[in-house]
Amino acid sequence: MKMISRRDFLKASAVVGATAALTACGGGDSSSVASTATSVASSAASTAPSAAAASGSADIGVCIYQFADNFMTLYRADLEEYLGELGYSVTIMDGKNDQNTQTEQISTFLQQGVDVLIINPVQTTSAQTIVDTISPSNTPIVFINREPDKSVLDSYPDKCCYVGADARQSGTYQGELILATDTEGDINGDGTITYIMCKGDPENIDAQYRTEYSIKALEDAGKTVNCLYEYLDNWDQTLAQQDVANALAQYGDQIEVVFCNNDAMALGALQSIEQAGRTVGTDIYLVGVDALAEAVQAVIDGRMTGTVLNDDVGQATAATEATRMYVEGEPVEQYYWVDYVKVTTENAAEYL
Ligand code: GAL
Repeated sequence: MKMISRRDFLKASAVVGATAALTACGGGDSSSVASTATSVASSAASTAPSAAAASGSADIGVCIYQFADNFMTLYRADLEEYLGELGYSVTIMDGKNDQNTQTEQISTFLQQGVDVLIINPVQTTSAQTIVDTISPSNTPIVFINREPDKSVLDSYPDKCCYVGADARQSGTYQGELILATDTEGDINGDGTITYIMCKGDPENIDAQYRTEYSIKALEDAGKTVNCLYEYLDNWDQTLAQQDVANALAQYGDQIEVVFCNNDAMALGALQSIEQAGRTVGTDIYLVGVDALAEAVQAVIDGRMTGTVLNDDVGQATAATEATRMYVEGEPVEQYYWVDYVKVTTENAAEYL
């Protein structure tokens, strides 16, 4: 009998459950989707149903910052599936990690008269310009994955929301995964947790908060920490593999923990850790974020200390539901938050 994982289950039931989950937000229902959705009362105002809603269909334009990103590949497949299940016509564009390319794609979508835009910005610092480009057409925007400043959302009231996860929570969970190990991160027993960090794109709030809050969790538990080096690695497996190989050559056994702010980088780090003859769980610890299948398998096999589920299913479900509400002229809140989940050897099988 095939075991149905939580991810499969959530995927199967995502759109069915979406209406209940989003309308319940703020009302105390704590399903995994938008369980902590923040309501900004002034932003929740009704608009007239669009022509698309009247005809039961809509054209949705989706801008992804970069198709080559592992996590956004999962997220984009979910979006395509869920929006398609609502009968919407969906076009997804690859911003190729270039804001100018994405800006052109947005202009093309506007010329085509799409009903709603879902945007994963290349640069969050460009979010205001994006809104200023779109707002004259009155087209609603669902920002995803890269959180713009609140002022950007405020500048386009009732027409603009953000669906995401609070990266502080994921950082705290990374730290807690290390604290839960036998040595609480201090393998050599010298009283200090010595680590390297693979940060990710430094402009990205997820990278910033995970870096800060993973270490804060250790310090809040009374631990002394020592950062040997912070690498950027831009969420990328190959870059992390190279940097961690160099770090292991340079610092050797001093490194007790490798923090990676996503699983792509953690998988790169894992290759270098194993090539250097080090053993996760014995003489080094390794954590990531996202719960990519390969990383979850590594957790099950004891080759990663843990990871943190970045719930693409929950976020895509919430983004789809926000899109539907815009299409149908229902009130849309300004923020929808989806929880992270700690993934350890005990529960990893559920997230494969
Ligand atoms: C993060 C995710 C990373 C990367 C990034 C892109 O939430 O953990 O793997 O996809 O988003 O903005």
